[in-house]
Amino acid sequence: MWLRRILTLLLSILLLPCLVAADETTPALSIYNKTDDGYVYYGCYNETMDLPGTIGTRALNGGTNQVLEEKMTVPICHKFCRSNTVYKFAGLEYARECWCAQSLSTLSLPFHDSACSLPCEGDNTTACGGYLKISVYTLGASSTRAAWSAGLSAVGFSMLVNLL
Ligand SMILES: *[C@@H]1O[C@H](CO)[C@@H](O)[C@H](O)[C@H]1NC(C)=O
Ligand SMILES: *[C@@H]1O[C@H](CO)[C@@H](O)[C@H](O)[C@H]1NC(C)=O
Ligand SMILES: *[C@@H]1O[C@H](CO)[C@@H](O)[C@H](O)[C@H]1NC(C)=O
Repeated sequence: MWLRRILTLLLSILLLPCLVAADETTPALSIYNKTDDGYVYYGCYNETMDLPGTIGTRALNGGTNQVLEEKMTVPICHKFCRSNTVYKFAGLEYARECWCAQSLSTLSLPFHDSACSLPCEGDNTTACGGYLKISVYTLGASSTRAAWSAGLSAVGFSMLVNLL
């Protein structure tokens, strides 16, 4: 009887760390994939600033950026990257940073999506890059189409105005 008790005790002591570990595993992060704001997912890319010869130049360089502690989400970054100048690329890095640029450095190499493993600080269900890893989005074909039809209707409208 006591032997069984001791065995049970031993077993639970041995299993306890496994149970705790299982409890701590977070569900897989999803990649934000709504395209209504014009940006589509481009991939998980490497930051470039530590590469030799780049003198600290970022993968998404020459645009603008913002850091929102506790608040950053993918749609907030998308909105920011087209709020004034419309930037072709929007990237989320280190859970809280948003980088906007017209091009992605050719030195920035694609990584597996799982390398962008930090949850956004404003939405812990979606990925916001990682340490020196960027979840990159680019203006997609759908928004190009939207811009086209907007452009066409603007042309149509001015023709109409000219006729009147
Ligand atoms: C978008 O992501 C969700 C959650 O990860 C997934 O269920 C859905 O199939 C995805 N949709 C597209 C169009 O990829
Ligand atoms: C990824 O980026 C880091 C930081 O810029 C750099 O040190 C590393 O060499 C890069 N890796 C590759 C494969 O480019
Ligand atoms: C994720 O965010 C939700 C809502 O803000 C919160 O209830 C939950 O505890 C968070 N989960 C983790 C693992 O941080």
